[in-house]
Amino acid sequence: TWTMKSFVESAITAIREKVGSDRVLCALSGGVDSSVVAVLLHKAVGEQLQCIFVNNGLLRKGEAETVERVFRDHFEMPLVSINATDLFLSRLKGVTDPEQKRKIIGNLFIEIFEREASKLQGTRYLAQGTLYPDVIESVSFKGPSATIKTHHNVGGLPERMKLELIEPLRELFKDEVRQLGRELGLPERIVMRHPFPGPGLAIRILGEVTPENLRILRQADAIVLEELEAANWDNRVWQAFAVLLPVRSVGVMGDERTYEQVVAIRAVESVDAMTADWARMPYQLLARLSNRIINEVSGVNRVVYDISSKPPSTIEWE
Ligand code: XMP
Repeated sequence: TWTMKSFVESAITAIREKVGSDRVLCALSGGVDSSVVAVLLHKAVGEQLQCIFVNNGLLRKGEAETVERVFRDHFEMPLVSINATDLFLSRLKGVTDPEQKRKIIGNLFIEIFEREASKLQGTRYLAQGTLYPDVIESVSFKGPSATIKTHHNVGGLPERMKLELIEPLRELFKDEVRQLGRELGLPERIVMRHPFPGPGLAIRILGEVTPENLRILRQADAIVLEELEAANWDNRVWQAFAVLLPVRSVGVMGDERTYEQVVAIRAVESVDAMTADWARMPYQLLARLSNRIINEVSGVNRVVYDISSKPPSTIEWE
């Protein structure tokens, strides 16, 4: 019978046979898929693996630190960590169009990745966390929604850099990847992580991405996750996060009038992100989210809950 243990063994054997004495690159994002690929590859080829992590300044609170702690300190993997925050923010300056943001972020990621990778001599392979649904989608999914948003990973890189792909998760579904992650000893925090888009917080800030907007969104978002975890709701939803809206509304604080920004909370249930329904979270939990965000995050005086399903809305606001 098929078990995760036997999958790990045969995957390791296959990777070793393919790689031989060559070197492998892996782009870590901190998400489940690339994390599982990295640990699997490290088990298979050890120091022949080189991981690269690019902090684009658009990550959630504590994310970069977690990646470094888990992979460099705990798993002792060779990891190059690049803080490219200033570069990303300067290229995003003044940009408000969602697809424009995606394009800038995707291209800059490739640029930085290529630059770093070219410093590592003798690399022949690139390891990627492509899943079975990704494979199917790229072959048969030609619906109009394919172009609604351009989801990027590291597409285009392998050909440009003349790297051959290693995709050990090609036959797995998300829940199997999570199981595999556990089998490989990844912490539950990473295994159960919600999907997070490549362009990160940039597509959850409607309008311009500025350091101040990032500060507000990051703080609000951390409160959403903290409270969902505490209420045991994080594992009941597909994704939950905060969105910063480009409008101001009037409020009152003590005797003072305020005129500040609005945070929307998005929490959805889904099995594959193709369709989704807004989560019927308890009023008590929503009340705590609203109170904490307004009290703790300066610059916000109103919180709203998104009660739209996909379709016709999408999960992300941009
Ligand atoms: P939407 O908003 O299209 O999102 O309903 C469906 C799923 O895809 C994620 N998403 C992205 N992931 N790059 C990514 O890597 C992107 O540009 C992107 N846009 C949306 C979204 O978080 C959800 O899980």
